[in-house]
Amino acid sequence: MVNTKVTLSGLTLDNPIIPASGTFGFGYEFADLYDINILGSISCKGTTKEPRFGNPTPRIAECTDGMINSVGLQNPGIDKVISEELPKLAKVYSKPVIANISGFSIEEYAYTCEKIDTHPQVGIIEVNISCPNVHNGGMSFGTNPDSAFEVTKAVKAVTKKPVYIKLSPNVTDITEIAKACEAAGADGISLINTLMGMRIDLKTRKPVIANKMGGFSGPAIFPVALRMVYQVFDAVKIPIIGMGGVSSARDVIEMMLAGASAVQVGAANLIDPFASKNIIEQLPEVMAKFGINSLEEIIGGSH
Ligand code: SIN
Repeated sequence: MVNTKVTLSGLTLDNPIIPASGTFGFGYEFADLYDINILGSISCKGTTKEPRFGNPTPRIAECTDGMINSVGLQNPGIDKVISEELPKLAKVYSKPVIANISGFSIEEYAYTCEKIDTHPQVGIIEVNISCPNVHNGGMSFGTNPDSAFEVTKAVKAVTKKPVYIKLSPNVTDITEIAKACEAAGADGISLINTLMGMRIDLKTRKPVIANKMGGFSGPAIFPVALRMVYQVFDAVKIPIIGMGGVSSARDVIEMMLAGASAVQVGAANLIDPFASKNIIEQLPEVMAKFGINSLEEIIGGSH
């Protein structure tokens, strides 16, 4: 019998599989399909201080082995998330969850973090400084070590819960950003968010996406994500949640060998709502095939 348990900042997860923010709603939407309690945890839909309608449509473009989104952080706002969405999730999911928050100023990040901190089911706060689809926020905080430091410091000041900072791959050196977050007190790093991309419609000769560009995700970005997890593992001592194009149990094991302590599944959930469940079910067989008794033992094992 193999051991799939992993630990993240003192939280023990039954397995490392976590549906990624923005690809699994607030989790309860999937509870009619299967028992979502098999999931290691859930990273909930990104939440901001105010409700957001998101970007104009079209905001999705298909690509070979992936997709581009420009959703624009659509969400009901922190108050409704606390009063309506998380209570619905609590009815069908009994484990600690990851709250994913975004903002347009350092004060907004801190405000939303302080509010979500009060929710008992939130085990980890994931701070998104990497959304490529909004102006004056999101990724603009995650592409500069100084602003990454400032956001991290501000959110750490208002919560005692573990804070993981979600990083953008759209930078020259991701290790500089990760080190700045660690220096400011981050408890962990989540990486990677989407890569900036675009498509052009040959009939209209215009960008497919109304916002012109968006974030590219899916299996095509897996090697980029893996490389960045590998680099960040060498650069910091805090745990990493790896993500980016993960679509199989083999991908999960690769991510963990690169240095991830847990793994998020993103675009795969949009292709197949059972993707995270299938990966969890595949894991023991793939572990046995490669002689892995315990997943915790392989973290960073490729270095
Ligand atoms: C979005 O809402 O635009 C996607 C979220 C993200 O990329 O961080």
